Amino acid sequence: MAGNSFGKIFRMTTFGESHGEGVGVVVDGCPPRIKLLPEDFKKDMARRKPGTYHLGTPRKEDDQVEILSGVFEGLTTGTPITLFIRNRDVQSPPYEILRDLFRPGHADYTYFKKYGHFDFRGGGRSSARETAARVAAGVVARKVLVPARVKVAAYTLELGGVRAKEVDMEAVGKNPCYCPDPVAAEQMEMALSRARAGGDSLGGIIEVRVKGCPPGLGEPVFDKLDADLARAVMSVGAVKGVEIGAGFEAARLKGSENNDPLTPDGFGANRSGGILGGISNGDEIVIRAAVKPVPSIKKEQDTIDRQGRPAKLRLEGRHDTSAVPRMVPVLEAMVRIVIADHYLRAKAIG
Ligand SMILES: Cc1cc2nc3c(=O)[nH]c(=O)nc-3n(C[C@H](O)[C@H](O)[C@H](O)COP(=O)(O)O)c2cc1C
Repeated sequence: MAGNSFGKIFRMTTFGESHGEGVGVVVDGCPPRIKLLPEDFKKDMARRKPGTYHLGTPRKEDDQVEILSGVFEGLTTGTPITLFIRNRDVQSPPYEILRDLFRPGHADYTYFKKYGHFDFRGGGRSSARETAARVAAGVVARKVLVPARVKVAAYTLELGGVRAKEVDMEAVGKNPCYCPDPVAAEQMEMALSRARAGGDSLGGIIEVRVKGCPPGLGEPVFDKLDADLARAVMSVGAVKGVEIGAGFEAARLKGSENNDPLTPDGFGANRSGGILGGISNGDEIVIRAAVKPVPSIKKEQDTIDRQGRPAKLRLEGRHDTSAVPRMVPVLEAMVRIVIADHYLRAKAIG
């Protein structure tokens, strides 16, 4: 009921809040005898962590992962793995204003309506801080997928209306927007600077690609691979749309244009995005997520207080100008977690 767990065999439960002691995840169902050390998390956590980029939140966190259980002598034991990421740079005073006022576009209003009491500091559980735990779980998922040779990679396809025109995966790690087109990356940065200067924020589109996924992953009918991927991606804050393959574009095509021809050498096109009938077909899996502009902006906004009286909100606090760049490793992790879960499920069926 509580909705903090995800996955069937490879199952994770995240916990913690933005301004509490820390955030973490319990990963259950990871096979035994997989090498897992605290250093394994460093690279992925660094890609998501705050404070590394001048247009992101200046909150400084080292995002070091502590392994509290499930690993003995550097190997997974097959028992629940608990990973903990301590909050170190917590500054709650700027959020005092949110004790009484709701941020338009954020989760404050709905958390208040649902629980009548919530940790408003830094967004509490609705904060992107929770996604650090997902990235940590994604590192474990990557290890599970090593024997299957599955590779998951994500990048920024669009930010603030600027779209990547080419996909050079080498370029992704070389710019702070994680954009595969260096020219577009510069334009994205300029758009971010302009938005920040105007006290505003930007949205965009992230594309995730899964290479080497074997055919046969996905369970009819409610646990279709595309259904689980959409759920995983949509569960990340600020994601407002998910497409698989041709996605919404397929709605404008004829069957003769949209069907991927079958040939003895494989599929002649990939508008299905690598999934048919909810089961992977062996082709590349392609997922896109539409990300809204982050709600916390410095511009003055109309809102109400807890008594329903009209109010003006002028926000302080440390926020990203866009969630898009920091979300790239998060979506990569979520997709990896889904593929790892379905890989283990396919193995269980035999
Ligand atoms: C990586 C990441 C970073 C984010 N950074 C911020 C931020 O700095 N400020 C903010 O208001 N929202 C930020 N968000 C978005 C909020 O978490 C999200 O909008 C909020 O939880 C409401 O959920 P919804 O947009 O899905 O309705 C971020 C989200 C992610 C995934």
